Amino acid sequence: MTESDDTCRWSAERRAVLGAGVALVPFLAGMARADEAGPASLPPQPGDRFAFLTGDKKGQIVKTEDIPLGGPQIQVYPIDPKSGVVRDGSRLNLVLLARFEPAVFDDATRARSADGVVAYSAVCTHQGCAVNMWASEAGLLFCSCHGSIYDPRHGAEVIGGPAPRALPSLALKVADGAPVVAEGFNGSIGPSKH
Ligand code: FES
Repeated sequence: MTESDDTCRWSAERRAVLGAGVALVPFLAGMARADEAGPASLPPQPGDRFAFLTGDKKGQIVKTEDIPLGGPQIQVYPIDPKSGVVRDGSRLNLVLLARFEPAVFDDATRARSADGVVAYSAVCTHQGCAVNMWASEAGLLFCSCHGSIYDPRHGAEVIGGPAPRALPSLALKVADGAPVVAEGFNGSIGPSKH
């Protein structure tokens, strides 16, 4: 899987912020400003669908069948299906979708999935890079910045690398053959400890 220009830029921005030693305060202040900016910056809302981030289908709603069975993940942003607003105003809204046979999930992960699709924050909990790589042999999510590895079949728990905790997930349902947000993230996004 290749890293999009957009996520590259975002990762560079995050690394620059964190590397500058200004910790998370300005970053969190930026989040607040983003939330005030309008619906494009709101976090995923119940009823949202997902829009392709890149490629020929950029901006179009993702159907379940668009997500490769068994991986790799695809990167998406939430989209309000009523207004058509793509919630790409905050990079904290970057989501990854992956699809498996439901039998491979643990019970908690299966409960938050729909039609074999799971949705996780694509923002690494280590230093906030995009989790945009796929370890194809093991079938695992991989952050190329410092090598954190997450298992999408088990709640995106950390199984390698420096990430301190699992990627937050979105509970899903299905409508018209497409994954839909049923509940918002079950944890804080990125390296924030709040
Ligand atoms: S930011 Fe992902 S491993 Fe460091």
